Parts: sequence; C-alpha cells; structure tokens
Amino acid sequence: MTDKINELLRRVEEFKPKAAAEIEEFRIKILGKKGELNALMEEFKTVAPELKRELGQQINRLKNEASARINALREEWQNAAADTASSDDDLTRPGTSEHLGSRHPISLVRNQIVEVFSRLGYTVAEGPEIEDDWHVFSALNFPPEHPARDMQDTFFIEKDPDILLRTHTSSIQVRTMERQKPPIRVICPGRVFRNEAISYRAHCIFHQIEGLYIDEGVSFADMKQSLLYFAKEIFGEQTAIRMRPSYFPFTEPSAEVDVSCNLCGGKGCPVCKGTGWLEIMGCGMVDPNVLKANDIDPEKYSGFAFGMGIERIAMLKYGVKDLRLYFENDVRFLHQFDEAL
Ligand code: DAH
Repeated sequence: MTDKINELLRRVEEFKPKAAAEIEEFRIKILGKKGELNALMEEFKTVAPELKRELGQQINRLKNEASARINALREEWQNAAADTASSDDDLTRPGTSEHLGSRHPISLVRNQIVEVFSRLGYTVAEGPEIEDDWHVFSALNFPPEHPARDMQDTFFIEKDPDILLRTHTSSIQVRTMERQKPPIRVICPGRVFRNEAISYRAHCIFHQIEGLYIDEGVSFADMKQSLLYFAKEIFGEQTAIRMRPSYFPFTEPSAEVDVSCNLCGGKGCPVCKGTGWLEIMGCGMVDPNVLKANDIDPEKYSGFAFGMGIERIAMLKYGVKDLRLYFENDVRFLHQFDEAL
C-alpha cells in the first residue's frame, strides 16, 4: 500500500496540465468521491491495526499534498488567463481613432464669409435654385437682348424660356426686396448653374455669395469700406483692395474688386499673372431701375450690392489651382481641410 501511496504522490508532483480544464479532471480523478484517494481509504479499512498509524499518516500527507498542488496550479492558470484578458482592457493603451468626416472646403469658406458679414449686421437669405426669368433677369434690369440670357449660358427647364436654373445668386436680391422693405442688409449664399464646359477654371455648377444693402443715404464709400473689411478678414490684415470700373445691368456705377496678391505681396507672380492683384468679385450701387422694379423709391433709398464665387475665394485662400477638385470629392483632397478654419 505504501507503494501505491508513493506512486500517487509522484503523479501529483509531476502533473503538468496543458489546459485549465485538465486541473479539474485531475482533481476529480484523485480527490473526487470515486477517486483514487477514496479507493485507498477503502483499502485502508482492511489493513492490520498495527500498520494503521503509519499508513494513515502517509494517506493524510498524500491528501494534503494533492490539494495543495491542485490549488497552486489553479491559481497559476487563473493568473495567466487574467494576464491575457487584461491586455484588452488596458486603459493606458492608446486608443484607435475613428476618422470623423470634415466640412467641405466650400462650406468652410462660405461659413466664414457669412460670419464676417454677420458682424456687419447682415442676415442670411436664401432662394430657390429653379427660378423664373423675372427674378434672375428682368427685375435685375437685364435688357431683353443681353447675352447672359443666351441659351449658351442658361439652363432652361422643359423648353419653357421662363423657367430656368438660376445663373447667379442676384435673384435672391429680388426675392428679398419682395419680402422686405428697407433697411435691407442680407448676405445670400447659394448654388448657381451655367451651361459651361467643365475645365480647371469653370464648372456648370458652382457657388456664389451675394450681398445687398439698401437704406437711406448708403454711399459708394460705405461699400468700399465694407468690402475692404471683408477682404482683410478673409485674406489677412495686410490685404489691400482696388476697384476697376465695370458693367452689370443691375448696378450703376459697377466695379470689379481686386485684392492684393498675398503670395508675392503685390510684386507680381505667376498666380496674379504678374499684376500683383487678384479679381474676387463684382459690385456696384443698386441701379435705380432695380429699386423701381421692386417697389422701392430710388429718390429716398440707395444701396449697394456685390457678388462673388465661393470657389474662387477658396482657390485663392488655399492655393487650389483646379476648380474640379471641389466637385470630385476625393477624400485625400478633402482630408487636407480637416483642421482648416
Ligand atoms: N451676379 C454677378 C455674376 O454672377 C455678380 C455680381 C456683380 C453680383 C455685381 C452683384 C453685383 O450683386 O453688384 O457675375
């Protein structure tokens, strides 16, 4: 019997589980109700009384050793399991970042322009993209034979020459004057459509922002100051503006506004084509015919208006040379604006 006890002791000592489940199997086999230890106990009952003391101690030792070994193994395997599990829960590990979407550069620039003018008291006005001749042309003093009405520029809908996609956001001027009496101070962002071949500098869809200010005693000097403030806010404090005489049916006098080229500081470079100036918008004093067409008394009120392409401003601001990039929405292009503005 001593041999059996020693043999079992050796097996307990040498037991090396390959998986946690093997420990429990081993425990049942040795210490369980029908296990080998209990079998020894049964046998123990039959041994001669003079051997009982000695063998009893041996069996007790075996029982204690087996329990201790199994407990130690259990603990070892639990710790190992906890170690691997905790690698997932390590709160100090750097997180995996989800890439959030970013605002489109056109939206960024539009929001910034709107914000600058809202500081000057302008509110945002919007209008429909599908318009009629009156709001896009007639109420804005376009003579019937004006080339902008030509089929080449304008998308007409269902061959009806009265229904068209607006070619400029100046139509929102008209809609605002219909709704509101002076003083009027609105900034009107929106999408516009022209029947143009798509190239690096032109697209059939683009975005404009229109401004309109009508009140008593509004002067050309007011317009100049407002647009200078705008240019400095968008392109930097050192920016200068100049105005060149121009023509628009809805303004008189009319002007094109240029900003000094920030890239060369006005000395002349390829971007400004050696002139030191970059064209950014059209503007002018609202033509009295436009005021009259919209039931506003030109004897009492005067005003100025301006309009610019958002893509153009964004191209100058970010040095983007191809307008098409704004429409293709290649994420590699868009991600460059993640932190912008
Ligand atoms: N509507 C003009 C265009 O699309 C831009 C413009 C010029 C708007 C002068 C104005 C303005 O309000 O006064 O080219």
